[in-house]
Amino acid sequence: MDNRLIIFDTTLRDGEQSPGASMTREEKVRIAKQLEKLRVDVIEAGFAAASQGDFESIRAIAGAVREPVICSLARANERDLARAAEALQPAARKRIHTFIATSPLHMKMKLRMEPEQVLEQAKLAMRFARQFTDDIEFSPEDGSRSEEDFLCRVLEAVIAEGATTINFPDTVGYAVPELYGQTIRRLRERIPSSDKAIWSVHCHNDLGLAVANSLAGVMIGGARQVECTINGLGERAGNTALEEVVMAVRTRGAYYNLECGIDTTQIVPASKMVSQITGFAVQPNKAVVGANAFAHASGIHQDGILKARETYEIMRAEDVGWTANKIVLGKLSGRNAFKQRLQELGIELDSEAEVNAAFARFKELADRKSEIFDEDIMALVSDEEAAAGGEHYRFVSLAQRSETGELPFARVVFSIDGVEHAAEGTGDGPVDAMVNAIESRAQSGAELVLFTINGISPGTQSQGEVTMRLAHSGRIVNGVGADPDIVVASAKAYLAGLNKLHSKIERLNPQLP
Ligand code: KIV
Ligand code: ZN
Repeated sequence: MDNRLIIFDTTLRDGEQSPGASMTREEKVRIAKQLEKLRVDVIEAGFAAASQGDFESIRAIAGAVREPVICSLARANERDLARAAEALQPAARKRIHTFIATSPLHMKMKLRMEPEQVLEQAKLAMRFARQFTDDIEFSPEDGSRSEEDFLCRVLEAVIAEGATTINFPDTVGYAVPELYGQTIRRLRERIPSSDKAIWSVHCHNDLGLAVANSLAGVMIGGARQVECTINGLGERAGNTALEEVVMAVRTRGAYYNLECGIDTTQIVPASKMVSQITGFAVQPNKAVVGANAFAHASGIHQDGILKARETYEIMRAEDVGWTANKIVLGKLSGRNAFKQRLQELGIELDSEAEVNAAFARFKELADRKSEIFDEDIMALVSDEEAAAGGEHYRFVSLAQRSETGELPFARVVFSIDGVEHAAEGTGDGPVDAMVNAIESRAQSGAELVLFTINGISPGTQSQGEVTMRLAHSGRIVNGVGADPDIVVASAKAYLAGLNKLHSKIERLNPQLP
């Protein structure tokens, strides 16, 4: 169908390339299931050759998610392609996405290859990939800075070898909308077999133009697939935001005249899940999914909205999945009600033992916090999953003292491989004292490079959700922790970050040769 727009979600691959956004297999499966509910067409589940963790995550998603096409990225070499095919084996519908850089700069400096060698390698890769699936996507990396004549040769050759999707990446976010759209249009006009493939856009947001470029690639260039991520997550300034593209196409339907299969009511739940799992908070004024996206502060606007909603709103909050914060559970809720709420939130715990452990934590929380919201349950489950994954460090308890004019003090009890240790520290503030206490024992040498705290539900009784980004030996990880006591939340986040550093998951970046 000419007006069908394919939504290709790469939150779990390009999104995960954001420094600190690495996710566990369980977290990725949870997001993939939410993406299935959102009804995306393709899920790029990872880059199978990047690490054992990526490989296993793709395999788990391929087994757990049945509706969307499951895709793995692979460089244009036999090892990567075979690894992608192996990871995708359980998938009901699978795609291999292979790429090689085509810009003069990348070919010369990064690949150290002549253009003719790149062309040959692209063809060989296509031929090799064909034995595994008929659904193959090809990307000329750094396409927007590549020479057009060379692109025509490469793309014509890979289509002849069976590429079914041609993706045109603006790898470094250099493109501007009209030129990006026109380039795609010219490529399609110049390549005789171009109509044998679906054309796709893949934009990075370095100039804040990723969504505009993607839409220009669709409207001017005739692309019919958009590659995007939830909340625009991605390396550097991020990727095209799925929610913005989908809502632009829907809200301005008369102009775009495009159909996409997305269930828009699942957008906000997906946004919250990705933000909570990765620790990347959504800015309040972010389009569609920001906390202020439907908030009206000025009296004139509020008056207008009360008289007729359309005066100041072009979309309905409920259409993108905003619901009034509901108190979902409380102290008296039983195990069955808790289990049912987990199901409604799309959370599947592996065993009854995990449900019991999560329920015990829920009861603990309900003793301290009278109203439990969905966000509280999601934070709690993340904690429980991390524990089930066998954490090296685990928070046990914290005592803390701070008073104006006094040096803040913290005593933290935490376990290392199951053995409890108590450590004390002082510092400039309570969080500094807590980190110093943990470090006096853990001696990780990690540097705290980012610290954020958000209330996850309304009111002062909300849990604080803390993200701590830690750097060590060139690696960057995000630790997330939630608790009604923000120093405890910080301690949990710090230990979660140390666990990630300790896990030493090394992965290749696909942008490296
Ligand atoms: O930005 C990019 O070029 C990519 C490719 C691997 C498609 O992510
Ligand atoms: Zn990319």
